[in-house]
Amino acid sequence: MKEKPWQGRFTESTDAFVEAFTASIDFDKRLYKYDIKGSIAHALMLNKSGILSDSEYRQIKTGLTEILNEITDGKIEFSISLEDIHMNIESILTEKIGDVGKKLHTGRSRNDQVATDIRLYCRDETDNIKKQITLLMEQLLSVAKIHTHTIMPGFTHLQIAQPITFGHHMMAWFEMLKRDYQRYEDSRKRTNINPLGAAALAGTTYPIDRNLTTEELNFDVTSENSLDSVSDRDFIIELISASSILMMHLTRFSEELIIWSTSQFNFVELSDSFSTGSSIMPQKKNPDVPELIRGKSGRVFGHLFSILTIMKSQPLAYNKDNQEDKEPLFDVIDNIKGCLKVFTEMMPNISINKERMHQSAKEGFSTATDLADYLVKKGIPFRSCHDIVGSIVKYALDNNLTLPEISLAKYKEFNKLVESDVFDILTVEGSVNSRNHYGATAPNQVSEAINRAYKYIDNIKNNED
Ligand code: ARG
Repeated sequence: MKEKPWQGRFTESTDAFVEAFTASIDFDKRLYKYDIKGSIAHALMLNKSGILSDSEYRQIKTGLTEILNEITDGKIEFSISLEDIHMNIESILTEKIGDVGKKLHTGRSRNDQVATDIRLYCRDETDNIKKQITLLMEQLLSVAKIHTHTIMPGFTHLQIAQPITFGHHMMAWFEMLKRDYQRYEDSRKRTNINPLGAAALAGTTYPIDRNLTTEELNFDVTSENSLDSVSDRDFIIELISASSILMMHLTRFSEELIIWSTSQFNFVELSDSFSTGSSIMPQKKNPDVPELIRGKSGRVFGHLFSILTIMKSQPLAYNKDNQEDKEPLFDVIDNIKGCLKVFTEMMPNISINKERMHQSAKEGFSTATDLADYLVKKGIPFRSCHDIVGSIVKYALDNNLTLPEISLAKYKEFNKLVESDVFDILTVEGSVNSRNHYGATAPNQVSEAINRAYKYIDNIKNNED
């Protein structure tokens, strides 16, 4: 068993179960890269501030770099008696370079160390997720571009409401993702703050230069208050919160794909590679991928409650409760990345049944509002038009007719102002074309929206470079 760095004031050894119970190495080992990066920056700062000699800094840096490679190559076995990734790496360093390794922890505590590691981790993963959202947005744009003229029914209450274009529907998904992207962009600002130097809670007695590690680790700013720096985890709450909203959006997209791929709707077909069969019913092709994405929202929303509850009522400054932040966070990140990846790859593998969508758009008197608007343009007040069209729909229902199948003579019985041009607006094409303003469903408006979206994506990419 390895000796613990804090052994000095203890006379008895840790109970074996307590040791396992309090250890975090099994999960926080995933932070090793950030821990080593943070330690090298800290050692450089100690050197520049005259606390470590050049040779001491060089030995520490070389030792840590070797450890980084050894961990990456799977050559290191961590020890549970050393509790966490921070103490494990420090102990391996000391084994490697001798007593100089024991100087690394000068002017630092695991409290600011773990806060630094987790911020660096969150920053990296935020950037990864932002890139993945961008890829999915691009995928939606290429689907939308093909379908600016594809007509489908638009729904309210899941009842056919008015004809829309499928491209317009895809662009609604795009808008949701755009806001998700912005939420990650925004929470990143409050993540990328350097807590290093806060030490245990009150700062340190050494003449440290905190701005040096801020620059070295590419943080935007140095944190303002040492107590807050070691105890704050709201950046994790924000990250999981942004992830929950993104996940909620993915469940909405998934739900639509699931409904659309039923035989009742038959709007889309998922490719075989993104579906699974049934072990008993040979005819079945199940939309498992969107279903699983929908189901995975459960754990992400659950983790939001975990992290909120972990932080609730914690007195300043660091408490061991904070160690519980990692597993929910890691699970959220893994699942968000998995869901985005599979959704992005699924999109081009969906075939769109244009004929069925078009047919369906004609059902349910979807152009009734257009008929009312037509009468308004003849000078009749909207409420009266609503009534007139209501009677026309009732007549059509009683006689098993669609609106374009009713004769002009019959229309004139309902209102004499109706002329033969009414048939132009009763078609689903006429209906979508007439909703021709910023943000509406007309194909040329959808094309404009797609152009703006491509500019938005270009902007994102230029800023990332
Ligand atoms: N493993 C700990 C965590 O994840 C590191 C910090 C421990 N600090 C302490 N004073 N016990 O939060």
